[in-house]
Amino acid sequence: MREFVLHVHRAVINFIQGFVLTEIVLIIGFVNTANRSSKMKMLKTAAFGLALVAGPAFADGHATGDAVAGENVFSKCKACHSIVDADGEAIVKGGRNGPNLYGLYTRQAGGEEDFGRKYGKSLVEAGENGLTWDEASFVSYVADPREFLREILDDKKARSKMSFKLGDEKDAKDVWAYLVSVGPETKTN
Ligand code: HEC
Repeated sequence: MREFVLHVHRAVINFIQGFVLTEIVLIIGFVNTANRSSKMKMLKTAAFGLALVAGPAFADGHATGDAVAGENVFSKCKACHSIVDADGEAIVKGGRNGPNLYGLYTRQAGGEEDFGRKYGKSLVEAGENGLTWDEASFVSYVADPREFLREILDDKKARSKMSFKLGDEKDAKDVWAYLVSVGPETKTN
């Protein structure tokens, strides 16, 4: 069942991303054909449409790992992270040292409201610069949070409040798949 739900979710994401691509193609088409003033008008309209459909595309629940194996890997994260759904129900009871990881793939880095000011400056900055969690960013973050932040912020002084490292890429992909599998979408089923 979980697999099925994941599949449907992925299909939805792909569909949305397809939309964005179509819109870009449309914009390019207009730039090439329309005369100057109508070009501007069309560009504005298209950009607005793009903004509307691009939002949901940032929620990237694409996962290639094994969610069942990932549930075991999560025992390493539990000391500091819980998974508590929107109704406050605990999927995994864990420590409060780190933010709740429920629905991670739907949010920007450093964006869990309850954790709020406990986030480190660098992670919040990365989020404000547009970092959202997907499989790739998640895997490189957990491999070495500090190094990851230093690279994407291009700042050798960037710091991470998460000192734990999960270097094994398969484990990281599996735990990502697990987090996606317990995420918001599965709740409706
Ligand atoms: C020793 C405690 C500790 C452990 C163990 C730990 N984390 Fe963290 N984690 C943190 C803290 C603290 C933060 C906040 C980092 C910051 O603000 O710089 C964090 C942040 C994160 C974030 C960013 C969340 C967001 O809201 O942007 C992710 C993703 C994450 N951890 C995943 C994991 C995973 C997956 C594991 C297990 C493999 C794990 N962590 C293990 C303490 C921990």
